[in-house]
Amino acid sequence: MPESGQTSRRKGEHLEIVLNKAVQFREKTTGLEDVQFKEIELPYNALPGIDKKEISLAANFLGKKFNAPLMVSGMTGGIKEAQKVNLDIAKACQELGLGMGVGSQRAMIEHPELTETYYVRDVAPGIFLAGNIGVAQLAEYSVKEIRDAVDGIKADALAIHLNAAQEAVQKEGDTDFKNSLLYIKKVVRALKKPVYVKEVGNGITFEAAKKIAATGVKAIDVQGAGGTTWVGVEAYRGNGEIAATFWDVGIPTTVSVLECRKAFKGPIIASGGIRSGMDAAKCLMLGADICAMAYPVLQAQSKGGAEGVKKFLQKTSEELRTAMFLVGAKNLKELKKKKPVLKGKTLDWARQRKLVK
Ligand SMILES: Cc1cc2nc3c(=O)[nH]c(=O)nc-3n(C[C@H](O)[C@H](O)[C@H](O)COP(=O)(O)O)c2cc1C
Repeated sequence: MPESGQTSRRKGEHLEIVLNKAVQFREKTTGLEDVQFKEIELPYNALPGIDKKEISLAANFLGKKFNAPLMVSGMTGGIKEAQKVNLDIAKACQELGLGMGVGSQRAMIEHPELTETYYVRDVAPGIFLAGNIGVAQLAEYSVKEIRDAVDGIKADALAIHLNAAQEAVQKEGDTDFKNSLLYIKKVVRALKKPVYVKEVGNGITFEAAKKIAATGVKAIDVQGAGGTTWVGVEAYRGNGEIAATFWDVGIPTTVSVLECRKAFKGPIIASGGIRSGMDAAKCLMLGADICAMAYPVLQAQSKGGAEGVKKFLQKTSEELRTAMFLVGAKNLKELKKKKPVLKGKTLDWARQRKLVK
């Protein structure tokens, strides 16, 4: 299988850097430490009133059933190593009934012979699968090329990623974001499958989410600050001084969920720095419908292949179930009715932005 061009080379460098360097936010956190469960932390509830064994984590997202409200964010494709990563994640998601995305399909559009590095349907016929393309690349490709890329991997939906901060500090970055909304709208209209927008770890505000919502996308994936920083990843690929200045730029995940929830009626994915089922429970309580993770899944795959990914996702589901038990929520609907207690920086932000009373 050929590995051609700058795009594939970049994907190789990304995997290598994310697995071997420190690429998490340094100063900024997700804000999840500022979110507490009224029921179990203030004070701890000794009488949940339900049986843990009867809790259902079942969720729906864009017409597909999930056994738990968890998915793996799009990461890779376009190189030989990526094929194994995608297949391992897909196998685990198929067994557990969860969803996943693939990484940017730019390399596949440029070199259709790379399709197999993204293709996971042989091992994961039933899961929710999202294709992926950067908003900055929408100007380069026809709607037909984008539709063929989504159909070529039998994806259920397309995620368009917004990565202005990453492109801004990348050596070869695409920095023309002038007509982003027009391009998103064009793709939304032309594709027969649902389209949603995701950030890559710098978050989305109320104002941006309002504009995104007006394009007709079916969901928003916040990918907020506090987890993996793509400005940080680019710092290791050159342009390090500029990247160092912007290492921690972005909207923390918790406030990004609140901002997007206020702006958008459709489903919201909470993501960016989600590292446990407890984190996921907090995001669902803040108004998200599904939670997504990238970095910890890649680490689990690198150490333990498909089995490693499965164990990590099982542990995350069990943590979520435990949090739900302790707050006395039998299903996700009941969890979402719980009101979080906010403190610290997250409360300051939420008050200033009138996201809470
Ligand atoms: C190795 C790697 C490659 C990634 N490549 C893409 C990509 O091609 N397209 C995309 O939308 N996001 C990409 N991401 C970003 C993730 O989807 C996610 O937004 C980000 O890592 C924040 O989540 P985390 O804190 O759970 O890692 C990538 C992440 C990783 C770790």
